[in-house]
Amino acid sequence: MHKKGFIFDLDGVIVDTAKYHYLAWKHLADELGIPFSKEKNEQFKGVSRKRCLEILLEWGNLTVSQTQFDAWLAEKNEDYLRYIETMTAAEILPDVPRVLNYLKENDIPMALGSASKNARTILKKVGLIPYFTSIVDGTQVTKAKPDPEVFLIAARDLNVMPINCVVFEDALAGIEAANRAEMTSIGIGKKEILTEARFVFKDFTEIKLDFIKELAEL
Ligand code: BG6
Ligand code: MG
Repeated sequence: MHKKGFIFDLDGVIVDTAKYHYLAWKHLADELGIPFSKEKNEQFKGVSRKRCLEILLEWGNLTVSQTQFDAWLAEKNEDYLRYIETMTAAEILPDVPRVLNYLKENDIPMALGSASKNARTILKKVGLIPYFTSIVDGTQVTKAKPDPEVFLIAARDLNVMPINCVVFEDALAGIEAANRAEMTSIGIGKKEILTEARFVFKDFTEIKLDFIKELAEL
């Protein structure tokens, strides 16, 4: 059994898809006449597609039929898929490969822990599938972040105890999920937003390999 395991969120941590999710939601919100901003979008990070639409409709005081709900859900996803269609490895966030390569070279098992149902498609597009022992995505979880389910499945797949897992997350909900799983939470983003994270870095360029070495107990 490996002592340590590393779990990565996808959107906003490995790739800059958070901006595409924002643009697709903004497009739908504008169409429905519901005010939507980057600040509001923070509440959508790490949250399932369905839950995001429910929240948006709550903000707009809209109650709709299941058919209409499903149509808007599909519309948002089709819009989003258009953005990611042309994605390449160039959209991997700066210095992410430096950290992934270091962990791989040192045989530290890695998993993906994402709420997205599009996670596999994106990983394929950017060529990162081979790095991960386990890919846990929105098609496998029944309870969305901040529930720790996604990370607990990843830890089980890696055969690492949750307490020995390190999680990289850009979402409030994801940090809460990691903390609830008793994992070491590392926030990627703003300290003012990710207040519950054990450590926060603006992005991977700020993360030193010595820090990773220490976390991985190498
Ligand atoms: C998360 C994103 O990774 O995936 C959320 O942070 C998104 O913004 C969620 O809503 C679900 O993604 P998808 O691709 O299944 O719509
Ligand atoms: Mg994210």
